[in-house]
Amino acid sequence: MHIFRIVLAVGLTAAAATAQYTPGAGIRGSVHDFSQASWNITKAGEICGVCHIPHEKARPAGQVGNPLLWGRSMSQQTFTVYTSPTLNGAITTPDGTAKLCLSCHDGTVALEHFNGQTTGGSTFMAMVRASAVVPGLPNGDLGNTHPISITYDSVADPGLWNPSTRQFGSTAGRVINDVLEGGKVQCRTCHDVHNKDVEAPDSGPAYLLRVAVKKAAAPSGLCLTCHNK
Ligand code: HEC
Ligand code: HEC
Ligand code: HEC
Ligand code: HEC
Repeated sequence: MHIFRIVLAVGLTAAAATAQYTPGAGIRGSVHDFSQASWNITKAGEICGVCHIPHEKARPAGQVGNPLLWGRSMSQQTFTVYTSPTLNGAITTPDGTAKLCLSCHDGTVALEHFNGQTTGGSTFMAMVRASAVVPGLPNGDLGNTHPISITYDSVADPGLWNPSTRQFGSTAGRVINDVLEGGKVQCRTCHDVHNKDVEAPDSGPAYLLRVAVKKAAAPSGLCLTCHNK
């Protein structure tokens, strides 16, 4: 789905080694377990520390107000958001927890920039797996990716299922509203960064998706959960 597949990477070999993992088994050993990554110099051996830090002291200057004890430098990128003549819901520049994902996945903040380290660093990531590295320059264009930070408005867009009644995934009693953030679709709506709530596809990478897209029993299950097509 993401055509914005740009990575300028030096030394992503260690990250690439973690590309295979068991969907839903938790963050340990998953694609987001950087405890053994070559760039994880400050906190080698820690999983959580590259993203969350328990106390303020090591948070980069100006980042103290960010949610969830975030310990990474935030992106200063100016983003171009998705537009189309048929878009109904209100869309904004990435906010909420989408900003946290983009503090690695925008291709401009070096992965090393955590725990107070804000300069240097040579490892960059964008919306792509390390195994599909394509050299290029990040341009902040989110116009080619599924709308992010968009209000889920099933009144304005009758092609969307009712978010307060439509079941989301296999978890009993969970509806679309439960995975929205303040009524908005964010990265975490579709993905689980910690690889807990991830459904295994029939084949290929799980992409940390809460509902698989590649499943013969329910093809494009993720998309059809929200879109009445
Ligand atoms: C690669 C970055 C990353 C790593 C590593 C990471 N997290 Fe997170 N975490 C996030 C992001 C992004 C969010 C916000 C999105 C969400 O809630 O899914 C979050 C949310 C959370 C939350 C609040 C929401 C919830 O799920 O309850 C807790 C608690 C949390 N993380 C704990 C941890 C712990 C403990 C570890 C280590 C075992 C860890 N995280 C490792 C990125 C990370
Ligand atoms: C509406 C659901 C949805 C949202 C929202 C979403 N994604 Fe995705 N993402 C997907 C799907 C589906 C894939 C599977 C790969 C594909 O189809 O290309 C994917 C794949 C990815 C990949 C792997 C791409 C590759 O080919 O290597 C990354 C990284 C990623 N998403 C990050 C993000 C980030 C960061 C955000 C928020 C800025 C986000 N996604 C928001 C659905 C979503
Ligand atoms: C610490 C930086 C960092 C943060 C923060 C982060 N990611 Fe990632 N993510 C990575 C790296 C690096 C990879 C590639 C690892 C590899 O391919 O071995 C990756 C891979 C992925 C993939 C591909 C999964 C697969 O199966 O190949 C998805 C999807 C993804 N991230 C989504 C997210 C989302 C959504 C968030 C926020 C909720 C997020 N990431 C936050 C660094 C980060
Ligand atoms: C969590 C719910 C959710 C999921 C899952 C989801 N979408 Fe969406 N999608 C939305 C919302 C909300 C919009 C904005 C609709 C609007 O306001 O017009 C949107 C917009 C779109 C648009 C642009 C529509 C336009 O008028 O420009 C397309 C195309 C699309 N989605 C396809 C997909 C595909 C393909 C998947 C699966 C990979 C998917 N969506 C998964 C909620 C979702």
